[in-house]
Amino acid sequence: MSDKIYDVPSEWAQKAYVDDAHYQSMYAASVNDPNAFWGEHGKRIDWFTPYTKVKNTSFDPGHVSIKWFEDGITNVAYNCVDRHLETRGDQVAIIWEGDSPDESRNITYRELSSEVNKLANVLRNRGVEKGDRVTIYLPMIPEAAFAMLACARLGAVHSIVFGGFSPDSLAGRVADCGSKCIITADEGLRGGRKVPLKANVDAAIAQIEGGVDHVIVVRRTGGKVDMTPGRDVYYDEACAMVTDECPAEHVHAEDPLFILYTSGSTGKPKGVLHTTGGYLVYASMTHQYIFDYHPGDIYWCTADVGWVTGHSYIVYGPLANGATTLMFEGIPNYPSVSRFWDVIDKHQVNIFYTAPTAIRSLMQAGEEPVKRTSRSSLRLLGSVGEPINPEAWEWYYRVVGEERCPIVDTWWQTETGGILITPLPGATKLKPGSATRPFFGVLPEVVDAEGKVLEGACEGNLVIADSWPGQMRTVYGDHERFEQTYFSTYPGKYFTGDGCRRDADGFYWITGRVDDVINVSGHRMGTAEVESALVAHPKVSEAAVVGFPHDIKGQGIYAYVTLMDGQEPTEELRKELVNWVRREIGPIASPDLIQFAPGLPKTRSGKIMRRILRKIAEDQFESLGDTSTLADPGVVEDLIHNRQNKR
Ligand code: PRX
Repeated sequence: MSDKIYDVPSEWAQKAYVDDAHYQSMYAASVNDPNAFWGEHGKRIDWFTPYTKVKNTSFDPGHVSIKWFEDGITNVAYNCVDRHLETRGDQVAIIWEGDSPDESRNITYRELSSEVNKLANVLRNRGVEKGDRVTIYLPMIPEAAFAMLACARLGAVHSIVFGGFSPDSLAGRVADCGSKCIITADEGLRGGRKVPLKANVDAAIAQIEGGVDHVIVVRRTGGKVDMTPGRDVYYDEACAMVTDECPAEHVHAEDPLFILYTSGSTGKPKGVLHTTGGYLVYASMTHQYIFDYHPGDIYWCTADVGWVTGHSYIVYGPLANGATTLMFEGIPNYPSVSRFWDVIDKHQVNIFYTAPTAIRSLMQAGEEPVKRTSRSSLRLLGSVGEPINPEAWEWYYRVVGEERCPIVDTWWQTETGGILITPLPGATKLKPGSATRPFFGVLPEVVDAEGKVLEGACEGNLVIADSWPGQMRTVYGDHERFEQTYFSTYPGKYFTGDGCRRDADGFYWITGRVDDVINVSGHRMGTAEVESALVAHPKVSEAAVVGFPHDIKGQGIYAYVTLMDGQEPTEELRKELVNWVRREIGPIASPDLIQFAPGLPKTRSGKIMRRILRKIAEDQFESLGDTSTLADPGVVEDLIHNRQNKR
């Protein structure tokens, strides 16, 4: 924690959309009369049939139901593309910066329209209709945005699977939502290395009963891939055979826009479902106000479209606002650790939004790689995905932004669709490490373990007391799981899974997950998923996975593994298990440390006491708490003795 405070610079208070007084009055209006507030702001997008109803939501146990603008009819692609053509058809919509610094491309709104319409026709010709699910497994190339918008144009529901996921993970996600069509590329390219996307798709389809009907393959590297006749087609060849006019489907506000799988405490990843009207209103409004986006600004969010940040703040929010959004295929340290800053200079980026893990890793390389670049175009910085430690915040502020650029530390989740707690650059003083105050319409509360609402300065669990338009509507195909996961811990409230502190100014400080979810480099991972991958290995009898503090990644993955009788705990086996998890889930789930444990601490009823495992992984041996209820208290000593050290 830091007690430094940075006041709002006066030119920001004057020039930004909202200053503090304006924030206070708008916030009060938004929570006092959400129907009036959102009834007005819902008009920021175009509707084919205007809504007459605004908010119709209930968090009541057994009857959770969330509807916004429910009788309005619109289309997301129309709002992100068509409506801009008249006024800014020749303005750049997407700046694409390739993995190699020699490759970049500008796509105007008019070109975007042509690409989206063509791909929509390609999909339509293959039988994709409103409500059908389409899986997108692409690298960070413009076709990923075209594919999202082409689905939206048809009213089809996209499900993007991050390119770093394994064939197994991909298969599970394709099967769960029943998509019959996959859009992929021959290979991805990251940091000069190739990712075998099409081969992964083939391996995934082999596991899916009934397979899929269509695979559309973008040629990214030109690498040789197997093409199954009748099923697989090259993107460019298919697009060459259709016109670039495809009418935008009329879509109800509550029709689904996308599914995005995310990890929770238990079971397999959930398909988080977002719908059309409320999502777009919320994504575009937050993008405009939080990044203080003004026409002509060049805006860059470094996320991958495989995560929610890419959905809301690379594609939908910015494009709905007619912005110029930069899409980056590569990684922060290729070909050098100056890459981010070089890209900022090359494209004259004004607003830059990235994750603490990237900042921490670049910070390690020192100031020189930053200072050798100009960055004079920068006006505003943003942070997302995990708590930002004050040291990283200060470095970002001082070295990257040269004390000129406010930092918006934006707290939100896949489930929330858009940012919920954040500073507004013209309105909110900054405290390094604090996400500060709620956005319009958001009602955060801090509760204790029993659900008692805490007042004033306090620490507890973060809940949201009422709905906002960007909220997820259900878990795809499992509404009961939706209610159970988010509304049963504190009945009548949305439980975020995060712990938080509120200070005397009413500022929120997110302290991290309080459930069995860990946040590795801003990527969300369920410990249960890693455990089930580990126990699927024939030599493993039992596994328990917890997070531990990691200097760069925020959290690392610590796995305690009990082997089958007779198996030797060797270094080779350790490596084999790491590779096994990479293959089962994907490289992002690779355990950082594996400790072979002859026994795990269990209660007499056989439940693993994770609290103890967490403390050992955190090196907090003194605060293990009561171990007397363990079936065999002796295992704890062995675990402490053999604690794996950070490399
Ligand atoms: O623990 C919080 C953390 O990331 C979780 C959500 O992860 P995901 O659904 O993958 O979405 C990430 C991008 C929005 C949250 O429950 N988190 C996200 N942003 C912040 C954060 N923790 C602290 N500060 C943030 N700004």
